[in-house]
Amino acid sequence: MKKLLSLICSLALTSTIFAKDVRLKEPPEDLSKYYPPKSENYQFLFNMYKASTSFTGMLTNVQDGDWNNALKWAKALKESYLKIGKMVPKWDKVLKKREINALVKAVKNKDAEGIKANANAVGQSCSKCHSRYQISAKILYHYPSYDMITLEDPVNHSDYEVHDYMKKMTNSLKLLNIYLADGKKIKAKKEGMNFIKRFNGLTQMCSECHTNKLSEQIYFGKSIKKEVKLLSKAIKNLDKKGIQKHLGNIEMMNCMKCHNVHQVPAMLKDKFEKH
Ligand code: HEC
Ligand code: HEC
Ligand code: HEC
Repeated sequence: MKKLLSLICSLALTSTIFAKDVRLKEPPEDLSKYYPPKSENYQFLFNMYKASTSFTGMLTNVQDGDWNNALKWAKALKESYLKIGKMVPKWDKVLKKREINALVKAVKNKDAEGIKANANAVGQSCSKCHSRYQISAKILYHYPSYDMITLEDPVNHSDYEVHDYMKKMTNSLKLLNIYLADGKKIKAKKEGMNFIKRFNGLTQMCSECHTNKLSEQIYFGKSIKKEVKLLSKAIKNLDKKGIQKHLGNIEMMNCMKCHNVHQVPAMLKDKFEKH
């Protein structure tokens, strides 16, 4: 019995195998009703946590032979599971209704085989939906958008969207390297200083999403300020080695780290918003 049920657990809780080309589907429009800006309560997500707790509650109690509590949790699972289709009508048809009813009945009858078969079927319907929609839902409804944010360019004083500002700043970085390689000293120094101004200007946007300064300190703290100072000195002296070294450090300590947290979700979000 124990073995059988741990098998159910592992089947129900691991996702189905899927092909390596990752495809993300946009969830039905109705799902957006349960997320900001339409609602601050995350009702859909909380119903998911309830379903998950009930599933575990049912299996644990079956395993312990506490059938009264197993039935209580099975009924709670059924309620949360069917609620998915009430909240998002387009999803109603993917629910395994026959199996969820049979699951409650099997628990009532203390029927291990029936529990196994139906818990697996229901569990697989959970995993199937998650593999299609869970990442999309997180990107669309949990992650803030960069769209409304603009940054003032400290060099030409125009306002740019985040990705255009990034391009502008990166362009200064590339030109610094190009002019340096071409022996155009004055131009190299100018672009180098433009890069530094634009780099420092990045902190304008942090407070759009972060209310405490601690987050800013992680990418723009003491150690990065020191690198920027050393870079500025190297640019003034046209010290190629120093420039490469401190630029490399800035890329590792700042650009790459910040991109790992912010750029990846922003890129995914762009994909949904542009189609
Ligand atoms: C807030 C943390 C953050 C920091 C620090 C940061 N970036 Fe970015 N960067 C982003 C985000 C977010 C995007 C994606 C914006 C979008 O797609 O709307 C991005 C996009 C980019 C892009 C792609 C622009 C495009 O759309 O073609 C480049 C290039 C780039 N960053 C370069 C840099 C470099 C170089 C540095 C360091 C000198 C840097 N970034 C530092 C957050 C950051
Ligand atoms: C028809 C679609 C669908 C079905 C069926 C479904 N879910 Fe979900 N579930 C979702 C979506 C979408 C999310 C992402 C919600 C979010 O992150 O805000 C989610 C998220 C979750 C999470 C949250 C994970 C996390 O911490 O981010 C849990 C737990 C969960 N589901 C459990 C279940 C269980 C258990 C079942 C089956 C009994 C189930 N779900 C069936 C769509 C579904
Ligand atoms: C469009 C919104 C947005 C902007 C702008 C933004 N961040 Fe974030 N940042 C996030 C989100 C979302 C997370 C994930 C944690 C969370 O939900 O708060 C995060 C996480 C972080 C983290 C990880 C640790 C933590 O504090 O949660 C750091 C560090 C961070 N951001 C720094 C920055 C810095 C520095 C800037 C400005 C250069 C910046 N962020 C700009 C949205 C943003």
